[in-house]
Amino acid sequence: MIKISPSILSADFANLERDIQRISTADYVHVDVMDGLFVPNISIGLPVVESIRPTTSLPLDVHLMIDRPIRYVERFCDAGADIVTIHVEADTEENTLKALGLIHGKGKKAGVVVKPKTPAEAVLPFLKQCDIILVMTVEPGFGGQSFMADMMPKVKAIRGYIDAENPACELEVDGGIGPETAKVAVENGANVLVAGSSVYKAADIPGRIAQLRG
Ligand code: DX5
Ligand code: ZN
Repeated sequence: MIKISPSILSADFANLERDIQRISTADYVHVDVMDGLFVPNISIGLPVVESIRPTTSLPLDVHLMIDRPIRYVERFCDAGADIVTIHVEADTEENTLKALGLIHGKGKKAGVVVKPKTPAEAVLPFLKQCDIILVMTVEPGFGGQSFMADMMPKVKAIRGYIDAENPACELEVDGGIGPETAKVAVENGANVLVAGSSVYKAADIPGRIAQLRG
C-alpha cells in the first residue's frame, strides 16, 4: 500500500492544529526540521513537535535536516516523533549508526536520508538498521521545488537493495511530489510519498491525498 506523508512545511504555521486536522486521511505527518547549517533554511524544532503531538493520532515522520543529528535524536523521540530520519551526509558512518541505535532504543522507527548528489550505495552501511530510507527528489531546504526525475535510477537501485536485504524497510521520496510525479516515484519502487505544496495548495485536500495514493 502507498502511504502519504504530507509535509507541514507548506501548512499555515499560525494555524498548525487546523492544518494538521486537514490531513487526517493521510498516513503520516511529515515534519521538516532545519538548522540553518546543514541546509540554508531554518524551520521548526523540538517545541513544535511537542505541541503538535497531542493534536493528531497519525505517526509523526520527523525529517532532521540538521548537522550531527546524534546530538538531538533522543530528544525528538521524547518530544513525540514516531519515525526519525537523519541524513547520511550529516555525520560520520559511526555516529550515524549510533544515532539509529539511539532512536531504536527509544522504541521509535529510524531511517537514513540521501541528498540528490549522494549515490544509492551510501545507504548500504545502514540498510539493516533502517525501518525507512528517504530519497530526496529536490535539494533539501525548501518546499515548492521541481521534482528531479533523474533521482529515479537511485530510487530503483535502493528498492533493489531493500528487497534483497531488508524487505520490511519502507522507501520514501520527498520533494516535488504531485499527482504525476507520484506515479513515477511509485513505478520506481517508492511506497511512502512526502508532499507539501501539492497537498496544501489543493482545494480538496482529502481528494488530493487519495489521488496521490493512486
Ligand atoms: C524539503 C523538505 C520537503 C518539502 C517538500 O527540504 O524536506 O519535505 O516540504 O515540499 P514539496 O512537496 O512542496 O516539494
Ligand atoms: Zn522532508
